[in-house]
Amino acid sequence: MRRARKGARIAPPPGVERGPAVSITVDGRPVPSYLGESVAAAMIADTDDLTLRTTDAGDPRGLFCGMGVCFECLVVVDGVPGTRACMTWVREGITVATQVGAAGRGPAA
Ligand code: FES
Repeated sequence: MRRARKGARIAPPPGVERGPAVSITVDGRPVPSYLGESVAAAMIADTDDLTLRTTDAGDPRGLFCGMGVCFECLVVVDGVPGTRACMTWVREGITVATQVGAAGRGPAA
């Protein structure tokens, strides 16, 4: 899936510090991230496109509940499809791909 790069993050509020910087790969592209944030947060902070996966029919899906209940945010993490982006913390070097369908046939084209 082609994702436009936003290149901007919201500054943390006073008294809140980001975790250490790490790099993850999303759809083959390096994405700067911070320990303590979810894969969904890293993906959304990096792009203008809020699509995390598409349905089998190609309809976009993204973050809905943000707390692990709805399964709208499924992505492929380190080759494992059906991983909830909102419930998965970033780690140095993980590879994330947008997913097609709930069953996770693999990255979207
Ligand atoms: S947004 Fe609902 S499970 Fe991730």
